[in-house]
Parts: sequence; structure tokens; C-alpha cells
Amino acid sequence: MPEKVTISVIKADVGGWVGHSSVHPALIEKARENLRERGSGLLIDSYVATVGDDINLIMTHRTGVDSPAVHELAWDTFVACTAVAKELKLYGAGQDLLSDAFSGNVRGMGPGVAEMEFVERQGEPVVVFMADKTEPGAWNLPLYRMFADPFTTIGLIIDPKMHTGFRFEVVDLIRHKKVMFSCPEELYDLLVFIGAPGRYCVKSVYSKALGEICATSTTERLNLTAGRYVGKDDPALIVRCQSGMPAVGEALEAFANPHLVAGWMRGSNHGPLMPVSAKDATPTRFDGPPRVVALGFTLCNGRLLGPQDLFADKSFDKARQIANDVAHYIRGLGPFEPGRLPLDEMEYTTLPDVMKRLSDRFEDVD
Ligand code: 13P
Ligand code: 13P
Ligand code: MG
Ligand code: MG
Repeated sequence: MPEKVTISVIKADVGGWVGHSSVHPALIEKARENLRERGSGLLIDSYVATVGDDINLIMTHRTGVDSPAVHELAWDTFVACTAVAKELKLYGAGQDLLSDAFSGNVRGMGPGVAEMEFVERQGEPVVVFMADKTEPGAWNLPLYRMFADPFTTIGLIIDPKMHTGFRFEVVDLIRHKKVMFSCPEELYDLLVFIGAPGRYCVKSVYSKALGEICATSTTERLNLTAGRYVGKDDPALIVRCQSGMPAVGEALEAFANPHLVAGWMRGSNHGPLMPVSAKDATPTRFDGPPRVVALGFTLCNGRLLGPQDLFADKSFDKARQIANDVAHYIRGLGPFEPGRLPLDEMEYTTLPDVMKRLSDRFEDVD
């Protein structure tokens, strides 16, 4: 059996600089140092990336998904970065570390996790998408475009290895259930669910012809806390490309017409997902608009050759212009839906307090 490689992307916000707009260089340095020193002998390679105020640890290794050693390394790295963030009084230091002690796996402890294990092909291009000011359901529409929409991915029609289609694993974040859809036959059933990205998220996509995993996202379950579902977080997504999977350009094309996502300002507003270069991943206007960065790597015996900053290309200027126009328009709605999220989906709310205070003033309508 050829040896398998695992790519793990584990991400967290452990403090913003300034506000929620970016990551301070001292945190990036600390994360790099930690992975280099503590990861030696465990990791084949690693790259520390940021988008807005989120740190994404991109790691390759041979220990499989849910490896306690890799999860512990990521957790300890975020703890070390949090200490620096506290010292520098960065905003929301330790924001995504929900527990004081590590217990074998970072899932459910705050950080987002996307991992896949496979046998490296002769050519293995991988794109790591990372977004800020949004939620895992933000990947639903682009994953649909990449793996099910022939207007985006011409390979679905003309590549014999893509023509039989893909399987989509969808998670119900509230009922904690998952279901598999085989496309194209079940496209319409799939869309019934993933058109509601606040609740149903595409976790992974598999090739039917190759029997291989092609994409996986940081979709974690939501927890009911004080009557509200919490735990949606800025997501990451790994996509393998070429030779029976979408070409790199087909995967990127899914972001060329920015779609509206939830999570802008206080996690409580809608905004367009703007594809940007790593250096432009600094959401500022109304803490946004939401951003997505695409880092391309060629895997070479587990080594990460890259990154290639794929959205830096001029061909995405038009998408950025559209996103800015849409952002400007939707900001005009101010606190009205659909600019603002529906009452039960906002991350911040005063509704219970205001309702309580005014409860005596509500009268029956005849
Ligand atoms: P593959 O079939 O090798 O993925 O090549 C397709 C391609 O790159 C077209 O843009
Ligand atoms: P983050 O989720 O990126 O920390 O943003 C929080 C926020 O509310 C920004 O307005
Ligand atoms: Mg933050
Ligand atoms: Mg963030």
C-alpha cells in the first residue's frame, strides 16, 4: 500500500489587531516557531496563514485525521499565541479557545478543523480557502458550483473522470446528523438543504469515479447555550484539484461572482464574500466585507510547495468591484433585514432584554 499523507488545517482567532481586522506579526511568529520546534519529527511541513483576525495552521503529516499529537500541537500553538495576545492586549485574546485543558481532540473546543488523508497523486495541487467574517455554510454555494454546476466547471461535461459526478456529505448543525447526496441525480434534493447554509453545511465532497475525497471544510456542530445555538465560526476549506477533480481555475471560478454570506459585523449581518490576496485580507469597512483567500500548494511527498496567492490575480478585480458595490448597497439597509440577520440567527442580540422591559406595554390586538 502506498503511504498516505494527511493535510490538516486547524484555525482559531486568538486575538485581533486592531479590533477584528488582522493578526499581529508577533502571533504569526510565535505560531511558526511553535510548529517548527514542537512539530519536528511529527509534521512533514507546515505553513502559518492568516485571513482577517484568524490564524490558520496548515500542516502535513503521516498520522491521519483526528491525530491526537497533531491536535495537541495545534492547541498548544494557539495557547502560546494567546499568551502573546494577552501581553500585547490584542482584542478578544483567546476568543476561540473555549476550554482550559486539552483533551485529545480540538473538535468542539473552539478551533475549526478540516483534514483529509489520501495517497498523493503524481500531481497533487491543493487549494486551501480561508474566510473571515462568515460561517461554514458560506462554502455551500461555491462547493455546489465547483462540483455540481457545469456552468462553472466545464470538466463535469468534458472530463470522463468527472462526468459521473460527486457525492456531497451534508451536516445538519442543529440535529447533529449527516446525510450523503449523489449528484447529479440528487441535485434538487441536495439544494433543498444546502440553500439554507445557516443550518445545513457541506462537510466533504467525494469523487464517484475515483472513490476519493476531494474537499472538506471546517464544519463543526453547534451547541445550544442559554437558548441559542452557538459555535459558528470563520471557516476554512481544502480542495484537491485536477485529474478528475476540478481544475484549479474551476475551483477559483466558484468565487468570481461574490455571493451573500452571514457573519459580517458582530456576526449579525449579511455581506458579499470578497475574494482577495493574502495581503488584502484585512476586513475594515464595518469590519468587512467578509473575505476569502485561496492559497495554492503543490504537494511533493508531503511537502507544501507554495503558497501561490491565487486571488491576487488581476482577473479577480471585477469580483472585488462587484463585492464592494454589493457591500455598499446592502449597508444602506442599516439595521433592517436582509442586511441584518433574522432575529434568531444574530450572534449579538438585545431582544430578550428589550422584550422583558417592554412586556407590560404589549396589548392584545382585537
Ligand atoms: P486535468 O484533466 O489534468 O485536470 O487538466 C485539465 C486542465 O488543467 C484544464 O484547465
Ligand atoms: P470575528 O468572528 O472575525 O472575530 O469577528 C467578530 C465581529 O463581530 C466583527 O464585527
Ligand atoms: Mg475576532
Ligand atoms: Mg475572524
